[in-house]
This record gives sequence, C-alpha cells and structure tokens, in this order.
Amino acid sequence: MDLIEAIQGRRSIRKYKPDPVPEEVLRKVMEAVRWAPSWANTQCWEVIVAKDPKVKSELAGSLSKGNPAFSSITEAPIVLVLCGRRGISGYYKGEAKTEKGDWLTFDAGLAMQNLCLVAHALGLGTVIVGNFNHQKVAEILGVPQNDEVVVLTPLGYPAAEGSTPKRKDTSEFVFSDHYGNKV
Ligand SMILES: Cc1cc2nc3c(=O)[nH]c(=O)nc-3n(C[C@H](O)[C@H](O)[C@H](O)COP(=O)(O)O)c2cc1C
Repeated sequence: MDLIEAIQGRRSIRKYKPDPVPEEVLRKVMEAVRWAPSWANTQCWEVIVAKDPKVKSELAGSLSKGNPAFSSITEAPIVLVLCGRRGISGYYKGEAKTEKGDWLTFDAGLAMQNLCLVAHALGLGTVIVGNFNHQKVAEILGVPQNDEVVVLTPLGYPAAEGSTPKRKDTSEFVFSDHYGNKV
C-alpha cells in the first residue's frame, strides 16, 4: 500500500471480528514500533500485548464512561497497551535537555502512528484510546512506577469501516514565515 494512501485511508476502527491475528502479522506490527524515530534513538517505548479475555475486560473497565471505544476492547482479539520508561527521552546524563522535560509521550505517539499505519496496511484495525484511568491500567498490568501507560488500542480485523471525520483545510494551520500569516 502506498504511504499517502495508508495515511489518508486509516480510520479509527471500533467494531471488530473475533478472528485471531496470526503471530507473524503481530510481529510485523511490532516491527513498525521498533523502527519509529525517537529522541537520540532512546526507544523508551514498551508494548504489552493483552489477549487474555479477563485482562481485556479489566482494561475495558478502565475506560472513561461513555468512551465510544468501550466494546472494541473486549471484541478485538488483542489489545496493545503502549507504555514508556520515564526519564530517558529528552534526557542526557539524567538531566532534562529542554523545558518540555520528558519527551516520552511524543516518542510513544510516533511509535503509535507507525503501529496504526502498518496495522492498516496489513488489513487490521486500530483505534488509539487515551481517555481511560491510566493508574488503573498500570495496576491491572503491573506496570512499574518508573514507566508510564500512554495509550492503548484494540487490534484485530475490522467488522465495520470507520467513518471519516472532517479535517481542517491546510490553510487553517499552515503559516508563512510568521505565525498567523496565511500561505
Ligand atoms: C491521543 C488520542 C487519544 C484518543 N482517545 C480516544 C478514546 O479514548 N476513545 C476513542 O474512541 N477514540 C479515541 N481517539 C481516536 C480519535 O477520536 C480519532 O483518531 C479522531 O476522531 C480521528 O478519526 P480517525 O482516526 O478515523 O481519522 C484518540 C486519538 C488520539 C490521537
């Protein structure tokens, strides 16, 4: 699949078939994370692959009330939980290099986008889920204190296509030479 086609065609998928994802396909999705760029190649990400129905159901229970992704967490055969080690991305010899501090969530975002695009190219669906109780998920999965749970996504074969939310026109966010100058 052409990259531009993949970027424009990927949608958030919230309905899944129960069909399992073959291990070699899952490995390709993990390779996409592996090759993501990161601060000084620090690769602070970690991925927990949840397949146990009990674990998935506990994860679903951590979602904020009314989250439209709720049923997809138990429906999909896999839930991937993206975490990151604190104090690595954006740091040199233990000191933050910029006023932004930890770049963990930025790097995790890059890894997640790679993951979603490759999953899409392989015919799989994903929906990035960020609106949940992060502390609760850390407890469910036994994530250590020095690591942060960032986002999660169901992974599986789509049972229905996602709708395409409207995007801003580029003229609304691309400026010329100075903030606010229309191109
Ligand atoms: C950081 C982040 C958090 C998100 N959290 C949720 C969520 O909690 N529940 C949900 O259903 N979708 C969530 N989404 C998916 C967005 O709603 C979706 O990407 C957006 O509406 C654009 O639709 P598209 O992905 O189909 O292009 C999240 C997306 C991002 C990037």
